[in-house]
Amino acid sequence: MQIFETIESLQSALSGAAANTLGFVPTMGNLHAGHLSLVSRARGEHDLVVVSIFVNPLQFGANEDLDSYPRTLDADTAALIAAGCDFLFLPSAAELYGDDMQASTRVQVPELGTHYCGASRPGHFDGVTTVVTKLFNIVQPDAAYFGLKDYQQFSIIRKMVDDLALPVSVHGIETAREASGLALSSRNGYLSAEQKAVAPLLYQTIKGIGDALAAGDQDFKRLIQAGKQQLQDAGLQPDYLAIANSATLRPATREDSHLVILAAAFLGSTRLIDNLRVSV
Ligand code: PAJ
Repeated sequence: MQIFETIESLQSALSGAAANTLGFVPTMGNLHAGHLSLVSRARGEHDLVVVSIFVNPLQFGANEDLDSYPRTLDADTAALIAAGCDFLFLPSAAELYGDDMQASTRVQVPELGTHYCGASRPGHFDGVTTVVTKLFNIVQPDAAYFGLKDYQQFSIIRKMVDDLALPVSVHGIETAREASGLALSSRNGYLSAEQKAVAPLLYQTIKGIGDALAAGDQDFKRLIQAGKQQLQDAGLQPDYLAIANSATLRPATREDSHLVILAAAFLGSTRLIDNLRVSV
């Protein structure tokens, strides 16, 4: 695996690579089996696989965990070599944004980016779409792989690619989970042993709602209220819990048949998210 820190060095290696197709996996590092499942999908479908690790300051709010976000480059490098990554791109913030990040151009998906995580993390998705656009322009992949664990992020990126006719096919990959059901996340590392025992309740709650929907229950309001209560009783503070149309992310109506249950909750100061798609 070759490692590049500048746009120029990566692009010169890319232009010299004899590859018909290129698969790309953007990440913020601290890689776990969820990230690596994206890399192995890309590996299986392309001649050349590029992964980026960049903890993108533009997508973190002022009071968020940018400084404490886990950085585990040695372990990540070893895991990427084992997963068959060809090129690892490790840009600095200055390399991507120059010396005035705030003055840098933004890419924004307006409506989809303002609800759910976008409501509690203003500007977050603008940071995501901006960096992903820039990375796409640098790498120029045929396909890019994203986790369905971040379902709103995946939906926003898919819409951006469609709206702007970006020449990349976007793939969504199923969420990797622990045996308990807890979705793998770099932020799980912030949890104490006690919190870790409670965290799987987030998935159990949305799974319970999903089972009820699949069985024909259409009382969305009651399902959400009961779900929030269940989270609170276990010591999780719900940020949002919603049943939405899985294509538009608008609140679900009784006519919708493809639904997604979206959830975010705080466990102490750690914010966990998860979702479940259900067809009824
Ligand atoms: P990061 O949180 O590092 O995630 C990188 C990719 O891994 C994302 O597409 C995410 O959805 C996926 N992923 C995370 N946990 C997963 C799991 N348990 N199962 C399957 N896939 C999982 O998401 C970001 O980085 C950033 O916002 C980024 C897109 C890189 C832009 O900065």
